[in-house]
Amino acid sequence: MLIKRPSDIPSSEITPEAIYHARRDFMRGAMSVAALGVGVAAASNSMAAPAHVTDVDVKGPAWLTQQLAAASANKGVITDTITPYEHITGYNNFYEYGYNKTDPAEKAHVLTTNPWTVEIAGEVAKPGTFALEDLLKGIALEERVYRLRCVEAWSMVVPWVGFSLAELIQRFEPTSKAKYLAFTTLERPAEMPGQKSRFSTIDWPYREGLRMDEAMHPLTTLAVGLYGKVLPNQNGAPLRLVVPWKYGFKYIKSIVKIEFTEKQPKTTWSMLAPDEYGFYANVNPQVSHPRWSQAEERRLPSGLLKPNIIPTQLFNGYAEQVAHLYKDMDLRKFY
Ligand code: MTE
Repeated sequence: MLIKRPSDIPSSEITPEAIYHARRDFMRGAMSVAALGVGVAAASNSMAAPAHVTDVDVKGPAWLTQQLAAASANKGVITDTITPYEHITGYNNFYEYGYNKTDPAEKAHVLTTNPWTVEIAGEVAKPGTFALEDLLKGIALEERVYRLRCVEAWSMVVPWVGFSLAELIQRFEPTSKAKYLAFTTLERPAEMPGQKSRFSTIDWPYREGLRMDEAMHPLTTLAVGLYGKVLPNQNGAPLRLVVPWKYGFKYIKSIVKIEFTEKQPKTTWSMLAPDEYGFYANVNPQVSHPRWSQAEERRLPSGLLKPNIIPTQLFNGYAEQVAHLYKDMDLRKFY
């Protein structure tokens, strides 16, 4: 953790984030200086900087680190400053580890992610259970810098490393009955203390779903990395979903099963509180949550005294790419 002023920092103590920016050099010129500057300043003086990130150099299997090293640079235009590594990995929602934002960073390191298998089931010609390594064979990883907007009205900008879910879907040859995808997280109470907690109201395992056209959209990503490195456990290692125009609860972590279904699948939050969390969960500043407005968001890092509040954008700023998916739908009804 960086707690000194930038001028005091010897090169031996440069954060992984700084190394990352220098190495990838994906924000050239003034932008890269600005991003680094904001990151360092935020880490050095922000009250919100989490103090629990210990595992900043996450180890993964050799095949994965090799694939990550070969990832191509971000192709999209980045207009937002990327959130510092310690905030992305220290302020998390992962209820399998508890309800506090710092629980995942403190507890998720115990999860065994290697070996890891993913079951592909349901309406496909080629179902089966596959080792993650085999699933990712031949897939070229890409850096994808996307905004993440949580339904709780905070947001980040995350440099994921991953690939389009569509690439994987095609391999398994969905049948004409495949209208939805249902995703399931690992259920392993021995390594996920939240799953055995008496206070938990969640019906484990965590579940999420997408409509087939949403799943096939090129922005829909399966992530295996972050900041050019292996995805930390608290962020959903070894495989998690990223759907940048939807609220963060759709981004299911630590996926062990993908089932192709004819009917809309049940999803964790819509089962728990159907009036508050819908299946679609598209980011929409005009549709309030029953208990709070969604018009604005707190972009992290955000100080207690000087909160970094910005307006929320329709479809999280990805309307041009995704609005057509919902053109005949009442977004208030299908929230
Ligand atoms: N996936 C599982 N399995 N369990 C969870 O509790 N939380 C969701 C989502 N994926 C969650 C999950 C919520 S509410 C959010 S906002 C994002 O993960 C947070 O992702 P992050 O911790 O990487 O920022």
